[in-house]
Amino acid sequence: MPNSLPCPDKERKALTFKFLTPLWAGPAEAVIISRMTSRLDSLKEHSLVVADTGDIDAVERWKPQDATTNPSLLLAAAQDPRFRSLVERSIAEAGGDVAAAMDALAVQFGAEILKHVPGRVSTEVDARLSFDTQGSSERARRLIGRYEKLGIGPERILIKLAATWECIRAARMLEREGIHCNMTLLFSFAQAAACAEAGVTLISPFVGRIYDWHKQHRQVEDIPIEEDPGVESVTRIYNYYKNHGFATQVMGASFRKTGQILALAGCDLLTIAPDLLEKLAAEPGEVPRRLSPAQAKVSAAIERRRLDETSFRWLFNEDAMASDKLSEGIRRFDADARKLEKLVVSLAAAAPAVPEPG
Ligand code: E4P
Repeated sequence: MPNSLPCPDKERKALTFKFLTPLWAGPAEAVIISRMTSRLDSLKEHSLVVADTGDIDAVERWKPQDATTNPSLLLAAAQDPRFRSLVERSIAEAGGDVAAAMDALAVQFGAEILKHVPGRVSTEVDARLSFDTQGSSERARRLIGRYEKLGIGPERILIKLAATWECIRAARMLEREGIHCNMTLLFSFAQAAACAEAGVTLISPFVGRIYDWHKQHRQVEDIPIEEDPGVESVTRIYNYYKNHGFATQVMGASFRKTGQILALAGCDLLTIAPDLLEKLAAEPGEVPRRLSPAQAKVSAAIERRRLDETSFRWLFNEDAMASDKLSEGIRRFDADARKLEKLVVSLAAAAPAVPEPG
């Protein structure tokens, strides 16, 4: 096991506020300040906090409820010497089959992460299957089978699939078999509405990539939180889900700054990268709840949309940002998976040959 870092919830709180204690503070003020809640602690009163990383040490450090990975996060973790033994174990387990080694690697990281979270880990299906209902559902079952061999049941896994029409169909099928799904690369209302009707367990609407797109198109350095289109998108989806009583959980994802996270306090779950968890833990302050089922009731209600394939594709295509970002997201996850494949191939070639028996 790699070395673990100290637990933030106890030690960090004390350390952080010790450094924040102003010079004028006497012992009494220092005690008051050291008891102040961090924004991270306060946020946890409203939303389940999830770690968005493949870095097992970071998961151990932040002790989130759940954890999420994606091909880019797995590539970063697999390149890290601290986790080399997990990569080597996956290669050995797959016996020369690269595709099997890729699945084994995702599961090895997932299983290791699960040692440090009470809840679930999200494991993503190969992006090349994003437009293949049958292929993606078969791959999901294979991943679940691998977890089962390690003694990990499906209740602890979320199979992550791109929110394309084909994968939403796959998720509908998988949920009926007791395999829970997390629909990712979700940028639009059309995707969210179709996921809810399909009865998926969870969706991950992105904030940061929507913000990136608008910043680039408006040619601005920043967009203030009150006008942030990523925050707006998640709020709209959350309110729609709560107003219509959908059981699908909403997990805000892809953040660029703490303000975006705080603006969504109250969302069912929020998946946050370690650098932003660090910032939230270092800032003292109460976080007011922004999203709630009661608040959703007073928002402008959106009529329930039951989209079929044609209306889904039409509505989705009307949204230029979502169309761009979904395509780009699939390309980027695929490119990172290919880089990981190359790493696996080179490590397999460098591995000492297993002697023939006898
Ligand atoms: C989580 O599920 C997503 O994969 C992740 O939040 C994406 O974040 P990014 O836009 O910073 O890559």
